[in-house]
Amino acid sequence: MTESRAKPVSPPQVGSATPDPGVHEPPRRRRFSALYKTWIVEEANAARDPGAVGALVRREGLGSSHLAAWRRQYRAGALEALSRGSGRPPGNPLAVENDRLRNRVTRLEARLKQAGRESPTPWTTSLTAGRPAVASVTFRPIGVIRTPFTDIKGMPVQAAAANGVEGWIDLAPELVEGLRDLEEFSHLMLLYHLHQTSAARLTVIPFLDDRPHGIFATRSPVRPNSIGLSTVRLLAIKGTRLHVEGVDMVDGTPLLDIKPYVPAFDDRDHARIGWFSEHLDRLANARTDDRFR
Ligand SMILES: C[S@@+](CC[C@H](N)C(=O)[O-])C[C@H]1O[C@@H](n2cnc3c(N)ncnc32)[C@H](O)[C@@H]1O
Repeated sequence: MTESRAKPVSPPQVGSATPDPGVHEPPRRRRFSALYKTWIVEEANAARDPGAVGALVRREGLGSSHLAAWRRQYRAGALEALSRGSGRPPGNPLAVENDRLRNRVTRLEARLKQAGRESPTPWTTSLTAGRPAVASVTFRPIGVIRTPFTDIKGMPVQAAAANGVEGWIDLAPELVEGLRDLEEFSHLMLLYHLHQTSAARLTVIPFLDDRPHGIFATRSPVRPNSIGLSTVRLLAIKGTRLHVEGVDMVDGTPLLDIKPYVPAFDDRDHARIGWFSEHLDRLANARTDDRFR
């Protein structure tokens, strides 16, 4: 997944104007609280990337002289003294540490909030805007799929191309009752979480083609919801272990659901298969590379 870097959010500045990221010179008559100065100094001290301090100063509309002066005050302990509440005994190291930690928590909470706003799931917001809807869904794996593939590279691209490749499912023991009558089916449809995918993409060049297609017109793993679907042959059920054949998932893939494959439900006559129709000849020999890692 591409990481969206959270922009730190400033705490309120007592008596100051809203910072304008485009302003490089310090605005006139701005007043800064000791808490704000402390926050800026600690933020600057924690900066690791080259240029991050400059970016912080610019974003806050400060001058470099501000930072230099506040750093001096910070080193001299003056900011701590100013930030302290009136009833606290002066110099109480526990109280000072408490303040420092509280500041840090505030900053981290602000960053978390911001990171949430910048999460790469904008469609959830647009889908649910203004009406009650399920904004997010949490599934718990019902089991784990074990296969010979320890790496997502070099694998068959579909279950239909994994003839003879055996694996097994270890179902959560609490769910054993749900397996009743399943042995009467020759094939199962497995729904699982493609847990090793990178960030979702809306256009991909799939393994079976050299041209780009919309993600929903492919079976590529880098989907907005990384759910995989494979039809496998059921070989045997022993307790909560299901032996299967035709696996195209990496070892350890979390299983979300099992459904019996029923041709009357799941097969369609005269189905059109879009761009796949010209490329199915590649299926048997195609092996995955790391384009979706
Ligand atoms: C093209 S996807 C198709 C998956 C499924 N048959 C479907 O159509 O939804 C199969 C490929 O996804 C990759 N893959 C398998 N298991 C994965 C996992 N747990 N996380 C991420 N990628 C996985 C492997 O490269 C595999 O060849």
